[in-house]
Amino acid sequence: MIRQRPVNPLLERTRRAPPRRVAVIGAGTIGPDIGYYLKTALPGLELVLVDVRQAAIDDALARLKGYADKARARGRMSEAQASAALSGLTGSTDYDAIRGADWVLEAATEDLPLKRRIFADVESRIAPDAVITSNTSSLPASRIFAELAHPERATVTHFFAPAWRNPAVEVIDWERVDGDVLAWLRRLFAQTGKLPLLTADAPCFMLDRIFDNWCNEAGYLLSEVSAAEVDSAVADLVAAGPFFVLNMSNGNPIIIETNTLQADEEGEHYRPAPMFRSVERWKTVALGKGVPMDDATRARIHDRMLGVLLSQSADILDRGIGSASDLDIGCRTALAFKRGPIEWLRTLDDAECRRIVERFQRERPGMPGFERAPSAYAAGERHVLVDDLDAGVKLITLRRPEALNALHDELTDEILAVIRRHESDPAVSGFVITGYGTKAFCAGADIGRFPSMLGDAGASERYARDCSRLLLHLDRSPKPVVAAIQGMALGGGFELAMRCHALVADRRAWFQLPEVTLGIVPGIGALVVPYRRWPTAAATFHAMLTRGAKLAASDAHALGIVNALADDFDHLLALAVAQVSALAARGREPLVDDPVPLPPFPQHDGKTVDGRVLSRTVVRIIEEAVRDGAAAASWDAALEAGYRAFGSVACTAAAREGIQAFLQRRSPDFGATG
Ligand code: COA
Repeated sequence: MIRQRPVNPLLERTRRAPPRRVAVIGAGTIGPDIGYYLKTALPGLELVLVDVRQAAIDDALARLKGYADKARARGRMSEAQASAALSGLTGSTDYDAIRGADWVLEAATEDLPLKRRIFADVESRIAPDAVITSNTSSLPASRIFAELAHPERATVTHFFAPAWRNPAVEVIDWERVDGDVLAWLRRLFAQTGKLPLLTADAPCFMLDRIFDNWCNEAGYLLSEVSAAEVDSAVADLVAAGPFFVLNMSNGNPIIIETNTLQADEEGEHYRPAPMFRSVERWKTVALGKGVPMDDATRARIHDRMLGVLLSQSADILDRGIGSASDLDIGCRTALAFKRGPIEWLRTLDDAECRRIVERFQRERPGMPGFERAPSAYAAGERHVLVDDLDAGVKLITLRRPEALNALHDELTDEILAVIRRHESDPAVSGFVITGYGTKAFCAGADIGRFPSMLGDAGASERYARDCSRLLLHLDRSPKPVVAAIQGMALGGGFELAMRCHALVADRRAWFQLPEVTLGIVPGIGALVVPYRRWPTAAATFHAMLTRGAKLAASDAHALGIVNALADDFDHLLALAVAQVSALAARGREPLVDDPVPLPPFPQHDGKTVDGRVLSRTVVRIIEEAVRDGAAAASWDAALEAGYRAFGSVACTAAAREGIQAFLQRRSPDFGATG
C-alpha cells in the first residue's frame, strides 16, 4: 500500500537539495531520453551516461544532439538553451565516472541478477545518501534493492516512452524507502514538468499491469481474429492499437517477460499468449487506418479489450496499487488511451460494466472482477487534487497537465463540488485554487470543445452561462477563495482567477486574454468583471481584450489586481493562506452592482500588440460588450453582456477560422474573414 502523502507533489517537503550530478546507467533508448529530459529541465546539471559499450554511448550522445538541433530549428529552444542542454553531458564506459553523483538512475536490461550486480558496484562508488533509482518496468523494488547496504535511498522511477516528452513517471513507494527520498523525487519531477504517479511495489507496478495485460489479451484474441482486426476494433479506445505499438517498440519480448513474472507471482491466467514467442512483427494496419469487419466481430473484440482494461483497473484500485485519478491520467498520458478507465466506468452504467467484466472473467477464468459496484471505483475527483494547508485552508489543484490545466465542464464542476462539500464545515476556513506544475495556472477554456458550438448563437450563449456555474458560486460563496498563480493564467483561467476573492502570484506569472487572437471573446466575465473590480486599470484591460496584450504579475500587482507577489511556490501558498485568513476576518469586497465609468477605447489598428492581424468584427463585438457591461445596472446584468457577446461571436467567420487554426497548429487568416 502507498503511504499517506500530499496529493499535490509540490507540497512535499524535503531536506535534500536539487541534484547537481546525475549518472544514468544504460545508453539504450530510454536511459539517454531520461538524461535529455533532465538536462533540458535542469540545464546546469552535470550528467554522465554510463554503458559497457562505447558504440551505445556514441549513438546516444549523437541522438541527444539531434533532439537539441531539432528543437532549435523548430524554435522550441533558443541557441543558448540548446547549448546548455548539451554542455556538461558526457559518456563513459568506466563505472568510476559515477563518483560524486548525487543521483544514479539505472536503465539497463530487465535482468534481476544484472541489476543487483550494477547496484552493488554503484554503492561502492557513491556516497551512502546519494539516491539510486531504477527504471525497471516490472521488477519490484523489494527484489532489485534487496541486497543494498542502504536500501532507504533507493526506489523505482519508471518513465514512459518517449521519456524526454512523456510526462508520466511512476514513483514506487516500497517498504524500505525513506519518505524523504519519495518527497524529493516527487517534488523534483513536478517542478520539472513531469507527472509523478505514486505507485505501490506490485509486479509491473500500475500502468504496465494495464499495458502488458492489454497487449497479452490482444495476443489471446488471435486464435479467433487477426491483428489488424484487433487494432481496428479498438480505435475508439486508444490512439494506436496494441499490435501497432508492439511493432513500434519491439515489445514482444517485454510482454513475455512481464507476463511470465505476473503469472509466476499471481496465477496462470497472466501467462503470456503463446503467439508472442513465434511472431516477430505483426501484420496490422497503419495508424488511423482500419480493416472492415462485421459488427459481431467488432463488438466481440471491443468487449474483450474493454474487459481487460476494467478488470485490471478494478484490481489495481482494490489492491491500492495507485489512486483512481492517477490511474486515469496515467492511462491517458503514458499509454495514449483516449479515455482513462475511470471515465469509462462513469460513461457506462454499472450493469454494462458488469456485463463486460463478467463475460471477460468467464472467458478468462482467474482474472479479477469488481469487488464493489463499478461506479464506486469512479467516485471522487478526476481532474482536481485536494490537500489540506495550514489554518483550515483546502488547496484545490487543477490537474490537466496535458492541456496546461485548461478548463472544461467536468473540471469546473469538480472545483465547485469540492467547494460545496466543505464550505459549511466550520473546520474549513477557505480555499486556495492553484494549477498543477509550474508552467500554468490554467491556459483557459478547452479550445478542443469549441468547434461543436460554432454557428449557433443560442447554444453558445447558453454554454457561456452554463460554464459560469462555478464563477457565479464564487461571487457569493460564504468562504474566501484565493487564486494562487504560477506561470500563465490565460483566458478562462484569468476569468476564474478574477472571480476569486484575492489573487496571489509568483513573480514570474503572467496573464493574457488571447481570445481575440482566436477570433472569439472571453465570455464568462472578462468583458465586465475587471472593469468593476479594478476600474483604474481599465486601459490595461482594453489592451488585453482587444489587442492580446500580456500583463506581468508585477504590473498586475502595481495595478492592485494581484494582492501579493511570491518568490516560490512555498511562499505563494503562505501568502494565499494569509489572504484567506485576512478575508475571513474582514469579509470580502462587495460585488459592484452600479454602472462603472469607462474610458474610451483608443483607435484600433486592427492588429495585436505584436503586429498580428485581428478580426475587426471581433474587436467591435468586444468593445460593444465592454461598453454594455459597464453600463449595466447590476453585476449579473453585466455578466449577461459577456454571454451575449460569446453567442454573437460564435456565428462569425473569424471564430471558425481562429478555432480551426489553433487546432490545426497554424496562424489564422483574419484578413480573409474580416
Ligand atoms: N485548450 C485546450 N488545449 C490546450 C489549451 C487550451 N486552452 N492550451 C494549451 N493546450 C494544449 C495544447 O494544445 C498542447 O496539447 P498537445 O501537446 O496535445 O498538442 C498542450 O496543451 C501544450 O501546449 P503547447 O501549445 O504545446 O505549449 P506551448 O508552451 O508551446 O504554448 C500556449 C503554450 C499557452 C501559448 C499555447 O498552448 C496556446 O496558445 N494555448 C491557447 C491559449 C488560449 O488561447 N487560451 C484561451 C482559450 S479561450
